[in-house]
Amino acid sequence: MTAVGGEVTRFAVGDEVFSRVDPRVGGAFAEYVAVNQSLVAAKPSALTFEEAASLPLAALTALQALTAEQADVRPGTRVLIHGGAGGAGGVGSAAVQIAKQLGAEVVATASAGSLGLVRELGADQVIDYRVEKFDEVVSDFDVVLDTIGGETQERSFGVLKTGGTLVSIVPIPDAEAKKARWNIEARSFFMHPHGGQLARLAGLVESGQLRPIVETVFPLDDASEALQKVEHGGARGKTVISVRA
Ligand SMILES: NC(=O)c1ccc[n+]([C@@H]2O[C@H](COP(=O)([O-])OP(=O)(O)OC[C@H]3O[C@@H](n4cnc5c(N)ncnc54)[C@H](OP(=O)(O)O)[C@@H]3O)[C@@H](O)[C@H]2O)c1
Repeated sequence: MTAVGGEVTRFAVGDEVFSRVDPRVGGAFAEYVAVNQSLVAAKPSALTFEEAASLPLAALTALQALTAEQADVRPGTRVLIHGGAGGAGGVGSAAVQIAKQLGAEVVATASAGSLGLVRELGADQVIDYRVEKFDEVVSDFDVVLDTIGGETQERSFGVLKTGGTLVSIVPIPDAEAKKARWNIEARSFFMHPHGGQLARLAGLVESGQLRPIVETVFPLDDASEALQKVEHGGARGKTVISVRA
């Protein structure tokens, strides 16, 4: 932190912090950004700035999906997480770790190259979605976290218990009709920045219960290459742009 406004009470110049910058005021491809203290938390000391920068969007999305704001996962809740390896976005890999920390029984889908990683992150069972149809091998979930949409989302309604919750980070077409047909809750939401929740996530990092997965760090000068890499797909972790020389 290089400067603080007159009304800032929780941070001081020199603090190492991280934040999900409010997307309504622009992105973060910059060396400096002004951000309200309510969106900021102390950077976990165990992480580099690049690792810390990879967390807020993905981990806040996963936390909000799995806690009181959306699905309210508790010890013993049976949860299915689609895309548990996380890819370039990283929501699934954060969600597997957070669901485990909340005490859930976690089943995740992933492709062959990521099955080991998703188990390592804490999933109790991992299904290779390219080999098996998840709805033919698992069922009776209290919660499904859908990061995929389309046919994966359609088939997810049938693996929920009556009264279960499908929480999606992509749109749910005809949600009201599907809720009535399957007798479940179905919610699509968009994450929001939140410094208090970031502090909670930092605590999970410090206690070894959450780790970011960074695949590549590009210098700012190579930002276009970084964006092309993300667009190309098939990532095994986050791509980070570093503003430091
Ligand atoms: N609503 C919100 O607040 C919010 C927040 C963040 C992101 N999003 C959106 O959510 C979506 C996913 O986000 P993300 O950033 O986590 O994506 P991502 O990084 O691209 O991850 C997708 C993951 O899903 C896997 N996958 C692909 N097809 C699958 C299938 N049919 N079944 C199971 N897994 C499959 C991929 O594995 P393989 O590569 O191994 O196939 C990859 O690990 C994007 O559309 C993004 O824009 C929404």
